[in-house]
Amino acid sequence: MRRLLNAAIALFWLIAGGLSLVTRKRAAGGRPAGNQATRGGRPAEAGHYERHEEPRPGKWGLRRIALVVAAVLAVQAVGGFLVVVTGVAPIKASSGHWPITAWFLNFSMSRSVSTHSIGIKAPPLDEPHLVVKGAAHYATGCFPCHGSPQLRHPRIARGMTPHPPYLPPAIPQWEPEELFYIVKHGVKFTGMPAWPALERDDEVWAMTAFLQKLPELDAEEYRRLVDGDGASAAGAPLERLTGTENVPRQVVETCARCHGVDGLGRGIGAFPRLRGQQSTYLELALRAFASGQRNSGIMEPIAAELNDDEIRALARYYGGLERAEHEPVEADDRETMARGEEIAQHGVPAQRVPACVACHGPGDIERNAAYPTLAGQYAEYLVLQLELFKAEHRGGSAYAHLMHPVASRLTPEQMRDVAAYYRALPPANDSER
Ligand code: HEC
Ligand code: HEC
Ligand code: HEC
Repeated sequence: MRRLLNAAIALFWLIAGGLSLVTRKRAAGGRPAGNQATRGGRPAEAGHYERHEEPRPGKWGLRRIALVVAAVLAVQAVGGFLVVVTGVAPIKASSGHWPITAWFLNFSMSRSVSTHSIGIKAPPLDEPHLVVKGAAHYATGCFPCHGSPQLRHPRIARGMTPHPPYLPPAIPQWEPEELFYIVKHGVKFTGMPAWPALERDDEVWAMTAFLQKLPELDAEEYRRLVDGDGASAAGAPLERLTGTENVPRQVVETCARCHGVDGLGRGIGAFPRLRGQQSTYLELALRAFASGQRNSGIMEPIAAELNDDEIRALARYYGGLERAEHEPVEADDRETMARGEEIAQHGVPAQRVPACVACHGPGDIERNAAYPTLAGQYAEYLVLQLELFKAEHRGGSAYAHLMHPVASRLTPEQMRDVAAYYRALPPANDSER
């Protein structure tokens, strides 16, 4: 519908432009002879051109109109400036907009979004891991303004002008590409913020995938998508968790929604598992998010709010969890696993890709505690990180540059193979990581 309107408007301008060109050409066609005639002071040779000498008074008319318009505009500009200088113009949010202002702002916003989203192409959005990733972030990043099926109009945001709309009824009027554009870039002069990490689009698509689902959700379905259920979720019975006397407050209040109190993630590759990772690596990762060295619109705002002690405590907590019982992972076909193992153990000499085990294990090689373990990590997450390294959008600790040449030489198939291999390995424990 919107695309149709766009096409119609573009067509209108084309036709209007074409018409004005044609009429100008026609006018110009007659003028040269007439001009010559007057400039040269010679009488017009061709009698049938004489008619064209008349437009002069018309021209004056045009000039006069232009002068009047310019004068009106100048008076308006001065008047407007005076209104601003005296401070009589109310900019208070409490009075809302006049209906005509609201309509005009909405109309120009939707026209702008429509035009600027031309050329954007949505990837497949029906992936559960994208929907869950978007849902969990919605609760942190969007709910305070836009509400949710659980609480439609948060009290403080109701005082904003324009009000952040309750989104479920608004979503169907936008194309996915338009939602992507709004969520990525925000809306000027309204309070609708841009995505915190503009370098990467994958997270914005995850949010778009969730928004597509939002209109169908009732309060309970919304809660389940956002918080998850089962052992990894915020409500997990703490006694089931080994080695956890002191669970830091943030784990239960914040991290659990995505990583679980048990550090296992949500069972699909939306969020990395933290359990099995060394505290040193986790701490460096949190610091990298907090300082913006590693880009993520989801993790950057969370990490930036933690102080030094909290970062250390959280890294110690997740790094100190004992090895979980290994839930056997459904392995990919044997050929995929064999190719993945070959890359991990020996690299790809022809493409100058080094063996991953040298830095990531598994094996007896002594490794730097700042290098992450990959064993047992979700394959979707591993592939995503490799793609980000390849595009040079994945920063990290001071060691992150080691990964850029590695990832940039891997093909998409090789990334998938090596990720499938690591995913199926039993997660590391203290002795082997
Ligand atoms: C600080 C408040 C605030 C936050 C946080 C916020 N928004 Fe908004 N959002 C707004 C306001 C205000 C508008 C209305 C803009 C307008 O009227 O043009 C808006 C408009 C939108 C729209 C367009 C709705 C429509 O039909 O006009 C979408 C979609 C949207 N926001 C999604 C999100 C998502 C997704 C997030 C979280 C990543 C988010 N917003 C975070 C304030 C916010
Ligand atoms: C809304 C979901 C969400 C919440 C809440 C959340 N995280 Fe994350 N976390 C993510 C995502 C998504 C990533 C992967 C980011 C990326 O793609 O780079 C991540 C990555 C991480 C990483 C890096 C893991 C690795 O292998 O490199 C650490 C460490 C981490 N989070 C710790 C935390 C801690 C501690 C908290 C609580 C204070 C927390 N997260 C809260 C979603 C979340
Ligand atoms: C020379 C050492 C080195 C080699 C070899 C190496 N890596 Fe890495 N890799 C690193 C370091 C260091 C990081 C962590 C960067 C950071 O976040 O600070 C990393 C991070 C990663 C991550 C992100 C993990 C996470 O939890 O976010 C993936 C995936 C990865 N490497 C895959 C591979 C694969 C696959 C190979 C083999 C083809 C490989 N690496 C070879 C050093 C290496």
